Formats: sequence, C-alpha cells, structure tokens
Amino acid sequence: MVIACDTLLLLTVGPTVSKRCLKEEGHVARVTVIGTGYVGLVSGVCLANSGHDVTCVDIDPAKVAQLTSGRSTIYEPGIEELLVAGLANGTLRFTTPSDGWAPLIGDITFVAVGTPMAANGAADLSQVRAVVADLAAAADRPFILVMKSTVPPGTGATVKSRNLSDAAVPIAYVSNPEFLREGHAVADWYHTDRIVLGSDDSSALAAVCELYADIDAPILETDTASAETIKYASNAFLSTKISFINEIANLCDAIGADIDSVSTGIGMDTRIGPAFLKAGIGYGGSCFPKDTRALDFIATLNGYQFTLLKSVIEVNNRQRLLPVIHLARAIPDLHERTVAVLGLSFKPDTDDVREAPAVDIVPLLAEGGANVVVYDPIAAHIPLEDATRVATVWEALDGASAAIVTTEWPEFRDLDWARARSMMHDPALVYDGRNCLDGDTLRAAGIEYMAVGRQGAHRASI
Ligand code: UDX
Repeated sequence: MVIACDTLLLLTVGPTVSKRCLKEEGHVARVTVIGTGYVGLVSGVCLANSGHDVTCVDIDPAKVAQLTSGRSTIYEPGIEELLVAGLANGTLRFTTPSDGWAPLIGDITFVAVGTPMAANGAADLSQVRAVVADLAAAADRPFILVMKSTVPPGTGATVKSRNLSDAAVPIAYVSNPEFLREGHAVADWYHTDRIVLGSDDSSALAAVCELYADIDAPILETDTASAETIKYASNAFLSTKISFINEIANLCDAIGADIDSVSTGIGMDTRIGPAFLKAGIGYGGSCFPKDTRALDFIATLNGYQFTLLKSVIEVNNRQRLLPVIHLARAIPDLHERTVAVLGLSFKPDTDDVREAPAVDIVPLLAEGGANVVVYDPIAAHIPLEDATRVATVWEALDGASAAIVTTEWPEFRDLDWARARSMMHDPALVYDGRNCLDGDTLRAAGIEYMAVGRQGAHRASI
C-alpha cells in the first residue's frame, strides 16, 4: 500500500524523523544496484519486490549467470523466492558491466560492493573507489548515488570532492547504511527499526525516501557524516553490549553468580533492554569485528583514542579463546585427545564463517597437538588443514574426550546427550560456548558441563 507524503515529526534540534513519504501512488523508480554480495543482493531483490525496476550489476559473470537462473548465491531465508518472483515479473535483472557503465546507471544507483578489513584494521575502500570513479566517468545524465556499502565517516565527503565534483553531470550523494542481520536480512529489510538517510541534497533525500514507501519504519534524515557514523556507532554499541555481558559472565564464574539470571535481571530495565546480552565466546561475522576495528582506526586517524572500543575488541579476542584455555586446564594431556568442535559458522542459520570463533579455535587446538574433528550442519567452506571434517555430529563426538559448542545450532541443543556420552571418552567434557544447552540434561547424562558464567556448570576462572 502506498501512503501519501505525510507527517514530519520534527525534533527541536538535529535530524528530521519522518514516516513514509511517497508522493504518488504506484511510484516506480529505475534503480541500479552495484554489487550482488550479501547487502547488494538483498537490496536489489527487495526493491524489485516493492515494484521498482531494478538492475543488479556484478563483475563476476558466474554470479550473474547463477542469479539470472533464479538460484541465490547466498544462504538466506526467503531470498530465493523473491529472486524468482522478480525475474518472472520482469522487475529484476542481473548483468555485468562488460558493455560499459553508462547504460546501466539508474536514476537511483546503489553502491553495495564489499569493504573488507585491510591488514591495518581500516576498511579497504578500493572496490568502492573503483566503482564510484567508473560511475562518475561514465555518467551522461544526472543521477543519485546511494552509498549502501559500509564506509567510514568522511567517505561521502571525500567521494564528493574527489569524484563527483568533476563529473560531466550533477550526481547527488546519499548515505543509506544497512542494518541487516544475516539469516534475517529479508525480514529486517521490511521490518527495520529505522531507515537512515544522510545527504545535503534535499531533493535527493526525498527521492530515496520514496523508494522505501512500502516500509513502515521511521526515516531519519541527517547529514552524510552523521549517517555514516550511525552505522558504525550502532555496531560498536551492540558489540559493546556483548563484550560487557561477557565480562560480567566471567565475573559470575569468579564469584559464583549466574549469568542467565543476571542478563535477565539487567535486561528488564527498559533503559538497558534484553537484546545482545547473551554471554558466550563472543561476536563474529562480517560486520562487528570489521566495523569495530575500522571505527577504532578512523578514530585514531582523527586524533582520538577510543579507549572503550579498544577494550571491547580486546575482550572479544580473549573471549573466543576461553574454551581452549579451560580445556587445556581441565585435561592436561589434551594434546593426546580428540576434541570435537561443533559449529563453524559465526551464528546459526548462516553458512558464513567469517571471523567465526571456530576459525581461531580449531587451529589453536590442532597446534597444541589435539586431534580436532569438526562438524557444522551447513558451513562448508572453511580451510581445515589441521582438522578432520565429518558429516554428522555423531562422527564428531565418537571417541572425543571433549566437545566445544561454538555455534548454537538447534541440532546441538536438542541432541540426545546420553547417546553422546556413550560415544565419548572420559572425562566427556562439553564446553558450551554459547550457553545454549541444558546443563542439567548433560550432567544427568554423565557429561562434565562447562559454560560461560553459568551457575552449576564446572567453573574455571580465567
Ligand atoms: C550485525 C548487526 O546485527 C546488523 O545490524 C548489521 O547490519 C550487521 O552486523 P550479523 O553480523 O548478521 O548482524 O549478526 P548478529 O545477529 O547481530 O550477531 C553478531 C554476533 O554477535 C554473532 O556472532 C552472535 O553470536 C553474537 N552475539 C549476538 C552474542 O554473542 N551475544 C548476543 O547477545 C548477540
């Protein structure tokens, strides 16, 4: 349903927050999305599903061919259905830029290419720079460039002065960060808490605002640097919550309190809120580790020492190694034992292993001499030079003296732990790195249960 441009909820000072703002019923924009990675594909497919005319561009012909045939290149609930529908009704197409950029540039062109972490912790903007330079050089009519890639504060200003100001035609710039969680990206697109738009061009802001007319979410309009900062500050804050609760969990282990009760108790304070207070072996994934380091880098570059953020990163780096530390203490001859690592992906419902705790845990155990056996229900593409990968959880547990749950897959939660115990060797220790198992069930099965700050679990201080 399309709703007419309506109420502006103006704050006394600062940004503008509005509800939906479509001017005309059935407005359709000609949109291009550059980059069909995680964010680009979700954006393109969802914009097409909203009825816009969407061209997705990627330099990888194999990806373009696969997407054109209706098979998703990422594992994400709901994406393939929308992909197939968009291709079938003609609102969505995929192409490479092999015939030049000019015909591909839409009235609104999203840049959604990767910004991986460079060796020094900064965001590597080489793909963004290359695409922006290509677009600015090729443009033969005005358009709006929307930056969807996660770029550090200040990038928009640099792009405008370095690239857009010299273009033959006017190119407006809008920062529009994404807040999509892997495994929930399609749902998050439609049920977001807010849409953030940053620009100094009010007509460009209005045009991008219209794109999101079917999404019932407040739209925050602000300047470009503030929009860029909102993205990093959001991820840094959520990472801070996680590192904070992990510190409290470690303290619970030391003093005999229970992190489940403590998390519940503090989360009941509406000023704190219950989300992101789940203790464990820390955050991973393609966003939090990269964005916290990039924000720290950009702070340093601007002469600011972000002490709190540095601690958040340090705590997370240490937290993921706790299972190895505790196992080594509990089993002195760990180097002669088999250890099962259950879960590779950084969280359930994704095959993404980027910055997953298991990626650090597996080589560390193997380096120490342990025979490491790894199982994950779907994540397949991790280099496992020093470990054996098996197809079932039972193969992983067979003959293992210890197991580490590194991802809270439902399969582990619902496992027949009595059967597991019968297959494991003494001391049959399970380190629940996600506090996702029922400790009583495991203990009743004769398993030595360790967790992160949980009462009743075998305690070991750091
Ligand atoms: C995150 C943000 O949520 C999203 O808004 C942003 O756009 C991209 O980064 P994602 O990386 O998909 O999304 O994962 P998320 O579900 O937020 O979890 C991140 C990590 O934190 C996971 O490793 C998860 O296990 C961990 N986590 C999360 C905790 O350890 N405890 C918690 O309470 C919550």
